[in-house]
Amino acid sequence: MIVLGIESSCDETGVALVRSDGLAVPRLCAHALHSQADMHEAYGGVVPELASRDHIRRVIPLTRRVLVDAGLALRDIDVVAFTRGPGLAGALLVGAGYAVALAAALDRPTLGVHHLEGHLLSPFLSADPPEFPFVALLVSGGHTQLMRVDRVGQYELLGETIDDAAGEAFDKSAKLLGLGYPGGPALSRLAAFGNPTAFDLPRPLLHSGNLDFSFAGLKTAVMTQFRRLGTNVCEQSRADLAAATQAAIVEVLVKKSLRALKETGLRRIVVAGGVGANAVLRAQLDLACAQRGVRVHYPEPALCTDNGAMIALAAAMRLQSGCAAASRDGAFDVRPRWPLDRIDLPQSGN
Ligand code: KG4
Ligand code: ZN
Repeated sequence: MIVLGIESSCDETGVALVRSDGLAVPRLCAHALHSQADMHEAYGGVVPELASRDHIRRVIPLTRRVLVDAGLALRDIDVVAFTRGPGLAGALLVGAGYAVALAAALDRPTLGVHHLEGHLLSPFLSADPPEFPFVALLVSGGHTQLMRVDRVGQYELLGETIDDAAGEAFDKSAKLLGLGYPGGPALSRLAAFGNPTAFDLPRPLLHSGNLDFSFAGLKTAVMTQFRRLGTNVCEQSRADLAAATQAAIVEVLVKKSLRALKETGLRRIVVAGGVGANAVLRAQLDLACAQRGVRVHYPEPALCTDNGAMIALAAAMRLQSGCAAASRDGAFDVRPRWPLDRIDLPQSGN
């Protein structure tokens, strides 16, 4: 079975093809991505209307490219999958509308996929795929969640952020420090030259006794420290503040992950979402887990941030496991807000 996956929930247009044979883990045939980061940078964040219009421009050329790269033709596609939510309504509608129209033209079924399920299954495409069950640390621009994953489609929320997501904390702190968008990679590049102990920043909810996170206070603390440095702030101080910010976020993520492992008794953790690309997070989690005999799995670096491969993969794994069926009725909806624990919400029209 060949699944075409379309991702358009935010500022990346991703298209990919995966092949699944029997019950083996699906394999990636090709994926292509266009990031709108340069376009949105001038505005300091994603402009939804511009995002939708750009998805329209990119999605067909990217589909052509993955077909060429995989040596496949349109008629080889068996199922067309798309991101149904959560995300920007207009951006989601572009991908969903395109997927359903293409499937109708090819007389093939479609399947709407939950974006976060895509992220948390994405390590299955890596050279070191996980096995169920595992704890998942999902750290993206909009979400910070710890989950217990027993099998495809069975996700139990253990804890989540009560305000900003970890990615937002990176992005907002980066903006305060005058860095570009998206802020996470820019802040971590600057942090490489800084001293993480030069500033004393809070570790919100670190000792809360549960698995919830809070990052809004950290952003305020970064702002206070930055203002204190005055207008003629030197490059070293900015790097120190960046390093201290990164250290605070990473420490909370690592300690809460260890707590989730302890509470569930599981010996395996999967890290997914854009912040999972952060090198310091990876190094500290690897170290802490190695000391405890816990296996850590990450997506390939190129598949940490939004992409079509994870959408095609999640669709293929849902179909394989029998927890979803592709639809041929041509009806679709998008779910801009869609908690993962309501993943089995029927497609409107069904
Ligand atoms: O998963 P993702 O691509 O999009 C969402 O679904 O939100 O995550 C994007 C987030 C942004 O906040 C970005 O700043 C952050 O991931 N990010 C990073 C790094 N690369 C991306 N944060 C820290 N370090 C990185 N290397
Ligand atoms: Zn994402």
